[in-house]
Amino acid sequence: MATKRVSDDQSSSEMASEKKQKQVRVWVDGCFDMVHFGHANAIRQAKQMGDYLIVGVHSDEEIAKHKGPPVYNEKERYKMVRAIKWVDEVVENAPYVTTLETLEKYNCDFCVHGDDITVTADGTDTYHLVKSAGKYKECKRTAGVSTTDLVGRMLLVTKSHHERDEEKAVDKNQAGDIGSGSTATSPWTGVSQFLPTSRKIIQFSSGKDPKPGDRIVYVAGAFDLFHLGHLDFLEKAKAEGDFVIVGLHTDPVVNRYKGSNYPIMNLHERTLSVLACKYVSEVVIGAPYAVTADLMDHFKVDLVVHGQTPIMPDIDGADPYAEPKRRNKFKLVDSQCGLTTQMIIERIISHRLTYESRNKKKQDKELKILAMLERENSG
Ligand code: CTP
Ligand code: C5P
Repeated sequence: MATKRVSDDQSSSEMASEKKQKQVRVWVDGCFDMVHFGHANAIRQAKQMGDYLIVGVHSDEEIAKHKGPPVYNEKERYKMVRAIKWVDEVVENAPYVTTLETLEKYNCDFCVHGDDITVTADGTDTYHLVKSAGKYKECKRTAGVSTTDLVGRMLLVTKSHHERDEEKAVDKNQAGDIGSGSTATSPWTGVSQFLPTSRKIIQFSSGKDPKPGDRIVYVAGAFDLFHLGHLDFLEKAKAEGDFVIVGLHTDPVVNRYKGSNYPIMNLHERTLSVLACKYVSEVVIGAPYAVTADLMDHFKVDLVVHGQTPIMPDIDGADPYAEPKRRNKFKLVDSQCGLTTQMIIERIISHRLTYESRNKKKQDKELKILAMLERENSG
């Protein structure tokens, strides 16, 4: 009996350690500037390749050296990446060139990157070391979204991202390509169209209903260019309950109250950005501007929350939160972050030339690599 117990203990501890050994640890690194759903999708795919995901984020200094200054500073980027729901750990100040020592230090089995090419300031492939060691895997880059493209939308002040394909083509032809200074675009970061599919939404969703007894919190807004202010606000909203539903206003509604070319990201894009956040349980894709009785009853909303930003009246001048206020289910919270989408745009406009030249540099580098790959293939 005693012998058997010992052997049982041994086998279970052996099994436990085997299980531990079997845990596949994955490394992903990058700049993650203006953290968008393309980044989140790469992170999601990387997590699927293993059990535990570590994301290395480069410092401002490293990015400035190799690519040009980032729009979001490192503190913002570290925090935003940490809040993506598939991330288990963030390593700050990760080196620009991924080394085997880095993988070893964090006990990672391999490194994952999108199927584009990243090079250092002197043109070296940042993944050459892990590639030659057989510790490199690729995920599919999300077409039609990049920091370069988002910066372009802000600088151009176009609204083509709101429109249907045919209108979009005309708008794009008229606008030219301010980001690259030429009409040639690279297949990686060049402006192409993001095709929102139901599959992508399913991949980003938790797919879970609230549990019995869950306190349901509802928030509404544009959540355009999902930024640190939104993140801090959602963290506060989550602290008010268990299940956070975000109601996203449609593009024409956002445009009505924000004007100009807002929103910078269209409804589908904003949906994915918000769904990637770990504090969000569900998104209403195109919520009514006023929080109605129907909406509150349908989702069994316990509390409606808004941040410190001004509450714009509805088209008829009414308070969009009149119903939750009447039910005594409304609360203002303080994100303690003053950042707004407008401030991000101002950062870009005030450094317009720097970002234009950064975009041009990136695109030119990619076109050069592309031409080289084409020559290799044809030779
Ligand atoms: N990525 C992706 N799809 C995109 C944009 C980025 O899959 N549309 C992936 C990259 O391939 C990389 C990771 O996200 O694996 C981090 O990318 P990052 O270092 O931030 O650089 P970029 O690829 O230059 O991203 P962007 O063009 O948006 O600046
Ligand atoms: O402006 P937008 O509609 O995107 O804001 C969505 C929600 O996030 C609002 O409740 C707003 O008050 C909140 N917010 C915040 N702090 C910020 C930016 C937005 O609390 N810095």
